[in-house]
Amino acid sequence: MTDARDPKNLRQDAPLLDGWLDFRAADVTPFGTPGHKQRLDLVGAVVDGDVPLYGGVDTIRQRAGAMAEADRKLAKLWGADWGRISVGGSTHGNQTLVLAACRPGDEVIVTRTLHRSLLLGMVLVGVKPVWVSPEVDPTTGLPTRVPVERVERALAAHPAAKAVFLVEPTYVGTLSDIAAHAQVAHAHGIPLVVDQAWGAYFGFHPEIPQHALQAGADAMVTSAHKTLPAYTQSALVFARTERLDRDRLERAFEVTATTSPSGTIAASADAARALLEQEGERLLGNLVQIVDHARDRLRKIPGLVLLGDVVDRSVIVDRVKLAINVSGTGATGLAIEDHMVAAGMPIELADRDTVVPILSINDDLASIDRFVDGVTAAIERGRSTSRAVLPSISWTVNPQVVISPREAFFAPHATVPVEKAIGMVSAEVVAPYPPGIPVLAPGERITREAVEGLRQAMADGTQVRYAADRSLATFQVVSEG
Ligand SMILES: Cc1ncc(COP(=O)(O)O)c(C=O)c1O
Repeated sequence: MTDARDPKNLRQDAPLLDGWLDFRAADVTPFGTPGHKQRLDLVGAVVDGDVPLYGGVDTIRQRAGAMAEADRKLAKLWGADWGRISVGGSTHGNQTLVLAACRPGDEVIVTRTLHRSLLLGMVLVGVKPVWVSPEVDPTTGLPTRVPVERVERALAAHPAAKAVFLVEPTYVGTLSDIAAHAQVAHAHGIPLVVDQAWGAYFGFHPEIPQHALQAGADAMVTSAHKTLPAYTQSALVFARTERLDRDRLERAFEVTATTSPSGTIAASADAARALLEQEGERLLGNLVQIVDHARDRLRKIPGLVLLGDVVDRSVIVDRVKLAINVSGTGATGLAIEDHMVAAGMPIELADRDTVVPILSINDDLASIDRFVDGVTAAIERGRSTSRAVLPSISWTVNPQVVISPREAFFAPHATVPVEKAIGMVSAEVVAPYPPGIPVLAPGERITREAVEGLRQAMADGTQVRYAADRSLATFQVVSEG
């Protein structure tokens, strides 16, 4: 095993990290899971550092109560009444929050920029989504915010709705006015639930947006792994218990949680929490500076546009996110991605017109300069005539709901050729990836517009995922009777 280190001495304030380090330092011959027995001689380093929560970081009978203590510290830091570290990603968090806020048959107001995990949480519970669409920035074709008036109109048309679900920030770092949305939801006596998967560092620096709970939301989930120095799959789920029931939240969390949580994943989330608490503002201040530096350099590239520079001034933008539009350079985002991957710099999102890297407190001036150098070289290599922006169907889809996602999911289905499928009801999720936002959800009419939009995404080089037939020659539809 490699040496276990704690360079910032976080263990004093991080019970799961402390348990993990203790386990690593101890001379153990385990007779519990996992079957690799902490030995590397059969499959090698791929299992190095994998410590279970029960029987590793804590005892099987949870004598130290380390997880409960870590959750308590977590909730306190985010100002929540209830908080849990999850090892199942924001996917698990979204499922938890739908199970906690809704009952089968409830109508809920939901942004159409939702992630498939939230949609499938709605399948689990059997809620009926009432969709609200985001505004789209005309220069870049990217989503900006869900105007409060759209939610107000949806609530007026569906007064029995039981919750509002938003995704904030969007994949490209723009935000709605969460405080105003919270007021509207609360005026209707219902909770505002926010999928904040991309904003784990929100609320820890004055130049960076508040997190959703600070802005008045009743619950939020965030992926620690997406932007904090934490293991893949780690997520944080929070709620206030004025409009959501604590016992229901607890039960909901357990429904789709594994019974064998990785202590390593959980300990890394605990360590990231302790780090944010102790040094978050300083580390984020540094990130603000280096992203500003990157922005200054990128602005000098002819034809390149940064979403934050052109978006309507009233839209809230995450200061440490770069959403780069390259249509004016003639190069494509997908060719830039290929270049970056070949240069050892995989990036989070690229489509025809857009490139979005993830920048985190683990970046430094050198890594960020390397990113800008790579993008600059890729653009100069692909530079040609500038093209008009084509907003992705992911942001502009106009869904036609016929039956609930759950009814469609469980209905008998058939596989039919695309031309015959148009006009029929989809049995499956179909989404360009990235960003993984459904263009077709189970229960929605397959429109010509949706099919054309999906084909366009494919023609531009974006993968279409989750459909049984990713070539889109056939679709799975709900069969009659
Ligand atoms: C908005 C949003 N919510 C939830 C998720 C799911 O997160 P995870 O991969 O942590 O399960 C994603 C994943 O990309 C996402 O973009």
